[in-house]
Parts: sequence; C-alpha cells; structure tokens
Amino acid sequence: MKRTLILSILLLCTTLAQAQIQITREDRERAEALVEQMTLEEKCALITGQDDGFHTAAIERLGIPSVRMADGPQGVRNKTHSTYYPCGISLAASFNRSIAHGVGTGIGWDASARGVRIMLCPGVNIYRSPLCGRNFEYYGEDPYLASETAVQYIRGIQEQRVIATIKHFALNNQEFDRHGTGSVADERTINEIYFPTFRKAVEQARVGAVMTSYNPVNGVHAPENQWLLNQLRGWGYDGIVMTDWTSSYTTLGCLTSSLDLEMPQGYVLNYEAVSELVKNGTVEESLVDEKCCRILQTFAAYGLLDLPMKNESIPENNPESRAKAYEAALEGPVLLKNDGILPIKASKKNNIVVLGPNADIIPYGGGSGRMDPIEGTTTTLWQGIASLGKGYKASFMDWKNIDEAAIRKASAVIVSVGFNHDTEKEGADRTYSLPAGQNELISKVASLNPNVLVVANSGGEFDVTPWIGNVKGLLMAWYAGQESGRALAAIISGAVSPSGRLPFTFWGTEDKNPAAKYYHAVVPAVKKRSKNRDPYPNAEYKEGIFLGYRGVERFGIEPMYPFGYGLTYSGFEYSGGSLEVLPYGYCVKFTVKNTGKTAASEVAQVYVSKDKSAVARPSRELKGYEKLSLAPGESKEVSILLTTGSFARYSTPQHNWVVDKGSYKVIVGSSSADTKIELPVEL
Ligand code: BGC
Repeated sequence: MKRTLILSILLLCTTLAQAQIQITREDRERAEALVEQMTLEEKCALITGQDDGFHTAAIERLGIPSVRMADGPQGVRNKTHSTYYPCGISLAASFNRSIAHGVGTGIGWDASARGVRIMLCPGVNIYRSPLCGRNFEYYGEDPYLASETAVQYIRGIQEQRVIATIKHFALNNQEFDRHGTGSVADERTINEIYFPTFRKAVEQARVGAVMTSYNPVNGVHAPENQWLLNQLRGWGYDGIVMTDWTSSYTTLGCLTSSLDLEMPQGYVLNYEAVSELVKNGTVEESLVDEKCCRILQTFAAYGLLDLPMKNESIPENNPESRAKAYEAALEGPVLLKNDGILPIKASKKNNIVVLGPNADIIPYGGGSGRMDPIEGTTTTLWQGIASLGKGYKASFMDWKNIDEAAIRKASAVIVSVGFNHDTEKEGADRTYSLPAGQNELISKVASLNPNVLVVANSGGEFDVTPWIGNVKGLLMAWYAGQESGRALAAIISGAVSPSGRLPFTFWGTEDKNPAAKYYHAVVPAVKKRSKNRDPYPNAEYKEGIFLGYRGVERFGIEPMYPFGYGLTYSGFEYSGGSLEVLPYGYCVKFTVKNTGKTAASEVAQVYVSKDKSAVARPSRELKGYEKLSLAPGESKEVSILLTTGSFARYSTPQHNWVVDKGSYKVIVGSSSADTKIELPVEL
C-alpha cells in the first residue's frame, strides 16, 4: 500500500517534471555559440528592451527573433483586447490549484494566439497591509497558498510555450513611494514569508523569467542587489532576470549583479555606457556574454529561436479561454456574512433592486494589471442578475438618485460597492475606507430595507464597521474579470454555492493588523526627503514572521474573519484523522461529509504547530489544503501529504532551513481559527 503510494507520487512528479520546459545542455551550448558571433553592440541590444519597451532585440543576421511581451496578470494586455480573467487575489481565494492552472492555461493560449511569448505575470508579493494598491494582483498573506497558486498558474502559461515572469523580486509590498522607499527585513522573515513563492516557482514550476522590484532590499536596489539575485541563482535558477520598468540606476551595478535584461530600454546597459567600462578595463565583456547566454538559452528552451511566435491554431477570441475565466470567476467569491439572505431562490415574490457604483461596470484594479476585454464578451453584475430570468424580477437603480418608495418595497437589495482602477491601483496605496459616499449609501439602503446584500470589489480588507451589523450579507467579489456578473448571479441565485475562502486575515479594524504600525511609518521621512530621493527612507518589516494569522496568538488579537474562512450554502462534518508515516514525511488522512442539502465545496486545511519551541514560531502555519466538491450527503476521504520540510523553520545562524526535534501538532480545520482534528507528531 505504502509502496504503491510512493510509486504513484514519484510517477506524478516525473510526469510533471517532464511537462515542464527545462533549459538543457544543448540550449546552453547553442546560446554560447550564438553569443560568440555577436558584437558588443549586438549584445547590449539583447540585454535591453527595444521598440515599444515590450520587445527584445532581433539580431537578424544570426536568426535571433524579437520576442514580444505583455503584462498580465488578468489576461494579455498591451495593444490587444483579450480574455479578462479574475485577478490574483480571487485565484488565491479559490483555494483550488486547478483553477489557477486553468487561468494560466487560458492566458498561455491567448498569448500564443497573439504572438506574445513572455507574459509579465504572476505577481506574488505577499499581502502585508490592506492598503497596498496592488494586493488585487497578488495571492494574499500566506506563502504556502501563494506558492501553490503561483506554481499552477505558471505551469499553465508555460505549457503553452510562453515564458511566465514571476514578479516583483522582492519585498515590494507597498505602492506608496515604491521607487524611493527601501524594504528592510531580517533574513528569517525574508526566507519564511517573502521568498517561498519565488523559490517554489523556480524549483517546482521552472519559471522562465523573474522581474525584480522597484524598491531597494536591505539597502540595495533589487536589480543591482548581488545578495538578492545570488539567492535566486542559488535555488538553481538559470532563466532570465529582468528589471521592472525603469528601475536601474548604475551601469556597473547592473553589470556585476546577476541581472540579464534591462526594461523597458537601455538606460544604463546601453552600448555607450557598457563599452566604456569594458574598454577601460573596469569589467570583463564576459559579464555581458553571460547575460546574453541566459536570455538565449531560455529562448532556445521555449522554441523561440525555431518555431513561429504565433500559434495560428488558437483563435484570439477563444471560447475555451472564456470558459476558463468563468470557472475561475465562480470559485473566487468569498461569502463572509449570510443572515439568511442568500441564496435568493426563484420566486414569484422576488422584486430585487440592484444598485451601487460597481453594479453595471466591470470593475478592475488600476495600473499595468488593467487590460481591455474583447468587446461584447463581458457581463456586469446587473446584467447577470437581469439575465437570471423567470422568478427573478429585478430592477436597476441609479445609486446617486435612489428611489426610497422602490427600496422599501424590494424583496432584497443588492448594493454593489468597492474600489476600482482609480481608487485601488498600482503606484499608490489606497484608503482603508470604501471610496467616498459608499458607506453612506449602504447605511441609507439598510435603513430602508432589512434585506440587504453587499457585494464588494477590492483586493483586500476594508472598513465594514459602519454598516456590517445592519446588512444581511457580505460577498467579497474581488475583481473577477469579464465573467464576474454571470458568476455572481449563479452564486446569488444558488445555482452554485460560494466556495472561496479568505486568502488573508480580515481583521475588522485597521490597527489590529500586526504590520499596521510599521507599514506607513516611513511617510514623514518620505515627505522630508530631498527631490533626488536621497537618502532612501526604509520601511521596516518589524512584525517579522508574525504577519497575518501568524500574529493572532503572538499579539493576542482576534480577527473579524480569519484567514481561510468563507461560508457556503451547506455544512460539513470532519471525521477520522490519522497520520501514516512515510519515508519522507506523513500522509494526513481524514473524511469530510457534506451534511447539508446543497452541493457545495469545502476547503480542508492542514496546519502545522510546534509545541514549546525554543525559537519563537507562529502558533500554526498552513502546509496543505484540498478543495472538495461534495454532493449532499456525500463523504470523501482526503489524503494530504506533509514532507519533513512542512515542519521546518529558517535558522539565521545556519542560513538554512532546519527541522527541530520535538513534539508538533498537525491541525485539520476549515480555517486558521478552526480545529476539527488534532494529531500529535513526534519528530
Ligand atoms: C509594473 C510591472 C509591469 C511593468 C510593465 C511596471 O510599472 O510594476 O508589474 O509589468 O510596469 O508594464
């Protein structure tokens, strides 16, 4: 039995590894042979962005094509209209690896159909504060959830021979003054919280490109930070390291670090600057050669030196991509409160009012993550509700001009609020409160009708305290892309049970978040500093490893809704619970039963906890999860594998991960605050 299990795991790993593109010795040799024939001027062209800033250089005499890139992460951006998928936080909230893989696959199809061979996604910076303007692009506060999501998303993209670019390496956790504020964290925090997603993307998804961050990391700008990039190479990374757009400062720094490609153009790695340093003997030309080799060996591995850039067999407006976008949009929304308002079943009595600033738009977060959907393919929330048809009499109301007589008479009111591309975006942090007028709108509607559902678009937590006690339901919808209206209507009507879970801790007030005190502590220094950004003030990550739910016990703070939490239209029962010892870890087994009358999905979560640790550790950490779709009354046995690495912590003196001997607990639950089964382990 044990042997069969081990064999099937090994087989699965081999199959997965085979499916992934790897740089081979032949690719390396081919790259070296090409570089040998290149002039220094050609080499400098290859290591810098060209044309519109979203292309690499073509060196036609050597048959090296220009490679086109485009932003993600919600679809293919830059000079095209394309399928618009749910944002990163929504994918993480799905707690479903195959959803992340499906969206990656769809993006891979869409990119290759357009001749785009480098996608500038996923963005995986950890959610440190709800204020970060780009949280919506990222995967939440937990490194395990973020890694699992990223690995699948990257595999999906790269299986289509499109290079994924994981970004922004590293510690780019705020948008406020992102070019000018340094991030400062200790080695353990960096390794336990901020590195794991990048590392797993390298080790398990063989990601083809990495984009550095704008911010200095512990004093040195990311693209020139030798320590930082050497960590990455130390994980066996042999792909392309590119800068974020306009974040390079010195020619020498960029030449001597392990950076390969300066984007969007050669501000510092241009021929004039580089050749001067080569000619006067400051650097060897071989530094430039190595960068070119890494770029070309990656291109060779993906077939970009041989095969056509465009996959003509895939249509640009692809129904299969839309299907992936819809599946993902169904699984992201998280139901946080439901005092009996949902689902709204078909009934002759239904007289639903839909209103709010986001009710009849496709809301999206702003910046480079914004993209243009294909005309005629989107469904807004209002359109989704309106198309439910029989048994769903619904009307749309202008939220700036509400009809009190009509709200009072409604059987239910759906208020669609939240942020959008102006209020939650790249390049700036956002407010903790909803945008102006929205709290007032919800409170007003709630004073007129007891049956209010708030549907909110955001990349993270926001202030719900002004009205949460007066509404019957709160559904976190994130930015769910072109199919959001269809998917939300299916959830609201009960055709599908909500199945998303919070990928971050919803504290309820701004100050409870362990990082809150430190997050914007840098603001006064930024305001005082001189125009040339000298000196760089530092954002210090003083909460360390005790970020998000890891800080609950440490600081004795109770969240409003814990990490991993989310309601469904059913209930679940956990039973059994055993640990099978394997040569390299444990297999945790238990059974989950759907005890309700509705088909629904449970996200069974496995946390590891160390009893009495000499070194401070979080009271529990997520190390496994499985989303189970269960028919009413159905039971499923779940097996979750924990490796010995699942029990490890980072040791700063040893500069490595260590597994301490002693007693641990494996906790199975439906959120970070829930314990259904507890199993002791002695290591
Ligand atoms: C963003 C990147 C993006 C790049 C290209 C930058 O401002 O930080 O995430 O990929 O622009 O659009």
